[in-house]
Amino acid sequence: MAARPTVVVARALPAAGLERLRERYDVRIGGLDAGRETVLDLVRGAAAVVADPTVAIDGEVLAAAGADLRVVANYAVGYDNIDLAASRQRGIAVTNTPDVLTNATAELALALTLAAARDLRTAESELRGGRWRYGWEPEGHMGIELSGATFGVVGLGRIGGRYAELVRPLAGELIYTSQSPRPAAESALRARRAGIDDLFERADVVSLHVPATPETSRMVDAARLERMKPTAILVNTARGALVDEAALAAALRDGRIGAAGLDVYAYEPEVPAALLDAPRCVLLPHIGSATQRAREAMARLVAENVIAALEGREPPTRVA
Ligand code: 8YV
Repeated sequence: MAARPTVVVARALPAAGLERLRERYDVRIGGLDAGRETVLDLVRGAAAVVADPTVAIDGEVLAAAGADLRVVANYAVGYDNIDLAASRQRGIAVTNTPDVLTNATAELALALTLAAARDLRTAESELRGGRWRYGWEPEGHMGIELSGATFGVVGLGRIGGRYAELVRPLAGELIYTSQSPRPAAESALRARRAGIDDLFERADVVSLHVPATPETSRMVDAARLERMKPTAILVNTARGALVDEAALAAALRDGRIGAAGLDVYAYEPEVPAALLDAPRCVLLPHIGSATQRAREAMARLVAENVIAALEGREPPTRVA
């Protein structure tokens, strides 16, 4: 009997996907602590590699895997951790997990928007820390009210579009940036397309929903932050690379923007001390897609992509 192909899960995958892979293949798993050397070692001879945003898949990893490698299946919608050009050059398919995490991530962006607006972090930690001294404080914990606010959605793709739907009942104006106009969203959501600088100037809430690419790297820099209103809120559930974190921390510290809600960082799991110290800043550990429903569906989609590629069929969500 021919040997079963080897599938390497660089770190971990929920059972919803893992079991389907185990039925068909020899599965090797790196575990959450798998570092670069472990991954380079583990991938040798693999027909498929399951990665996630913490696992860099570059030419060296692809070369280490060798000639049997057919597919890199990312357990994430974002795939900035994968060198697409190197994959294409070797004829290796790359897949991601879109759609199934759209609701989870957009809902987290909404949660961060509300949490940042009302600085829930400080309020809750004061209560838990025994610092709730006066019962009700006539002028304590003043937040930013969102009803009627102008919401600016940077990138009206799947997640940005869902976020726009969720905030529509709150929004006065809804503006968005996108490479091309979105007439359906414009009529359904009464959204208006704007230039990026215009959006940063007008929005009371700016929520980022674009992938990390060389073009979007540090798109929120000191100059863009300077354009924001002193009461405006920045929300990032996309990728940390979009934001100049030092500039953001300085803007919060100096009161040049109102608040921020972040789920992603440039060098995860490192969070700059300046951000940890910044006021009116809610910080989460990259949990955008972390709902049972989303993560299981993502895991199933990873398995479907691997199985399709190894059976010679077109993977359902191929990006390269
Ligand atoms: C996490 C994400 O990366 O899908 C993405 O691009 O950033 C998130 O879904 C994912 O949960 C990590 O496995």
